[in-house]
Amino acid sequence: MKHFVSLSDLTPQEVQKLLALASRLKEEWRMGGNSPLLAGKTLGMIFQKPSLRTRVSFEVGMGQLGGRALYLSPQEVQMGQREPVADVARVLSRYVDIILARVFAHADIEELAARARVPVINALSDYSHPCQGLSDLFTIHEKFGRLKGLKLAYVGDGNNVAHSLLFASGLVGMDISVATPRGFEPHAKAQDRAKELAQASGSRMEITNDPLVAVQGADVIYTDVWTSMGQEEEREKRKPIFTLYQINRQLLEKSEGQPLVMHPLPAHRGEEITSEILEGPLSIVYDQAENRMHLQKAILVGLLRPEEL
Ligand code: CP
Ligand code: NVA
Repeated sequence: MKHFVSLSDLTPQEVQKLLALASRLKEEWRMGGNSPLLAGKTLGMIFQKPSLRTRVSFEVGMGQLGGRALYLSPQEVQMGQREPVADVARVLSRYVDIILARVFAHADIEELAARARVPVINALSDYSHPCQGLSDLFTIHEKFGRLKGLKLAYVGDGNNVAHSLLFASGLVGMDISVATPRGFEPHAKAQDRAKELAQASGSRMEITNDPLVAVQGADVIYTDVWTSMGQEEEREKRKPIFTLYQINRQLLEKSEGQPLVMHPLPAHRGEEITSEILEGPLSIVYDQAENRMHLQKAILVGLLRPEEL
């Protein structure tokens, strides 16, 4: 593992090792004895978009590992505007040991990785959110004690988070059904790659426009915002198109089980999910948010100290 740009680049074995390392690091943290595995190391964090979870969990996680993190705001770096992505990659590589970036264009992350001399982590692009997808596997495994054979239903926009969940599910043999309005399906390229991963692990992958089909028999029901960062001007136009794709009590009842409910946050209560469900007993969204930190510590260690994997 040289960079962490897309889950579709990982092998199932690497995924299992990262999950196991995250579990070990979480246990150490719980017992109050974090190992300073990254003492003296610096993480440079480039953000072109806002963040609460990603920024804080990486910064705090790096500190727990004995390293430090530098937050570089959109105004500061102005990647691609003040200077080219390739220069940002080459210059930062001279100062820091590892770089993460949250960007609009996925091509910018790929270019950073191509030009940097140090590992690069995708902290969300318009195409994918691999830290979220892998961390969600960790959370689901923690709740169920297994991944293979479970069914995840994703209802909403076929966006960056949906893409990473498709890859994540295929890698571990978890069934996934994604329901989106017509025209908002996951990107064809992501569907094709996820299908290959699913075939290799023997899991089922389904893309539908019917939320009732998706949630049928699901162990986990997952949703995300209808309008992602960068699409703000489409928000009002999208609302009526997505109305039937809300996670609410009626939809949950249709699953005919007691599915756990996940959301990467931030959530828009009353849009993609009702407040009742988000705050209800089946929601695990705050455990999910916490686990970002534990899993991302494993990514950092996996990239900088691969012998620990
Ligand atoms: N889920 C997530 O990535 O949250 P932030 O946008 O706050 O980092
Ligand atoms: N799909 C959302 C995820 C935020 C964590 C976005 O890109 O804004």
